[in-house]
This record gives sequence, structure tokens and C-alpha cells, in this order.
Amino acid sequence: MLETRGLCKNFGALEVAREVNFRLELGARHALIGPNGAGKTTFVNLLTGVLAPSRGSILLEGEDVTALAQAKRVKRGIARTFQINQLFRGLTVQENVCIAVSERLGVGGAMLRSAGQRADVLAEAARLIEMLKLGNDTGRRIIELPYGRQRLVEIAIALGLSPRVLLLDEPAAGIPSAETHILLDAIATLPKDIAVLIIAHDMDRVFRFAERITVLVSGAVFAEGTPQEIAANREVRAVYLGSALDA
Ligand SMILES: Nc1ncnc2c1ncn2[C@@H]1O[C@H](COP(=O)(O)OP(=O)(O)O)[C@@H](O)[C@H]1O
Ligand SMILES: [Mg+2]
Repeated sequence: MLETRGLCKNFGALEVAREVNFRLELGARHALIGPNGAGKTTFVNLLTGVLAPSRGSILLEGEDVTALAQAKRVKRGIARTFQINQLFRGLTVQENVCIAVSERLGVGGAMLRSAGQRADVLAEAARLIEMLKLGNDTGRRIIELPYGRQRLVEIAIALGLSPRVLLLDEPAAGIPSAETHILLDAIATLPKDIAVLIIAHDMDRVFRFAERITVLVSGAVFAEGTPQEIAANREVRAVYLGSALDA
């Protein structure tokens, strides 16, 4: 579905991506983990076109998209959530999700009001809002919501784009642990043909669903395998996970 070949990114002398060869398979449930500063967010920024690589290439379904602009990649089916909120904060939950859905349906050029009045847009937005258990907040503005709820709205928006590849950058960050199950349930109910890459900085329960794990250290792929293989990997434990796996 998505592949990188020899992907490199430097910020001055700092190498944040080093020859990253990575494959996200069709329908994957893949986790990318690594310590803070390992280059995980940078990698997502390279995949989505926020940043241009210093070297190497990115392929979507075998086609080179390295030079493709961010918006065009979204249209090709790559959606992501941000680690930091990027919502229309003065608008309601429903309006935010409607904007994403109407973008996808090609009515994004219409004014928000008319987009929000389209029955198909409203129905799809309502379904996503319900999926993220945001029904009670649908008419509230983003600024009125607790941070954890805002993060759930971000995911509803990403899903509103009906992506084929969904990149979730630390989706559980800031969500109270009592509410992370909403996120996990939503991820679990995603259509099987969406390829999901979930970024986390440790083996937290957000990616217990992962079938494959890549460990990034200092911008390079340090290990890759099944969760069992990663959990049993002594080097991974030594450099990074430490006692987290013993729990
Ligand atoms: N725009 C930038 N300019 C310079 N350095 C950056 C920039 N973005 C990130 N970095 C640096 O790149 C490294 C990797 O950052 P990041 O990708 O955010 O790591 P992670 O998401 O794994 O915590 C860090 O050392 C960070 O300070
Ligand atoms: Mg990050």
C-alpha cells in the first residue's frame, strides 16, 4: 500500500531519517514505536508530504508520490491525525466533521452552511460522531471540549476523509486512560482494507491491536517483527523498552 525506499531526512547536521525502508501492507495494523526524538513524527511528515525527504522515495500502491503535494496525497487516500490539535476551534464538532466529509465528497468548495445541509454529509458525519462516542458533544465548539475529546474529533475527521491509509501519531496522547477504549474500539471497527499505521512512544495498549511493529531509533529502523518477536528482542529491550515489557 505504502512503501519507502532509502528514505533520508536531515535537519542540518541532524539525520532524522536514515535509509528507512518500510512497507505498510494493504489492510495492515502496523505500529511504529521508538523513544522520543527517534524521528517518528518526522517519518509521518515525510509520508504525508509535510516535509520533503533529503533522499529516497515514497510509493503509494507502487506509484512514486515523493514529489506529490500534501493535499494531493490526501485525495489519493492518505489521511493522518496530528500530534497537536489542528481543528477549527471556533466551530462545532458536527461542523468540523462535516467539512472533512464534504471535502471527500467534492462539495468542499461550497460554503460550509450548504455543505452542512446536505443530507448525505450530515448522515455520514453523524455516523462518525457516534462511532467516536461524541454524540453528546456534537453541537459543542471545539474550544469547549476537554482535550481528550478534541483528539477523538481529530480521528472522526481523519475517518471522514475515507482514507485507504490512516496514520495516527500518538492518538492516545492526552486522552484520559478511562477513555482510550473509545479510541481502541473505533480503530478495531475500521474497515479491514484500510492500512493503519499507529505511532506510539512505548508499548502502550493503544497498539495491542498491531500485527506488526517497527522500532525506530535515531532515525533508523532498529527492529521489525510481530509483537511477540519485538517483545522477545533483547536489543530492543536493552536500548529502549527496558522493564516496560516485564509488566
Ligand atoms: N523542523 C525541524 N527542524 C529541526 N529539527 C527538527 C525538526 N523537526 C524535528 N526535529 C528534530 O528531529 C528529531 C526527531 O523529531 P520527531 O520526528 O518529532 O521525533 P519523535 O516523533 O520520534 O519524538 C528531534 O531531535 C527533533 O528535535
Ligand atoms: Mg512525535
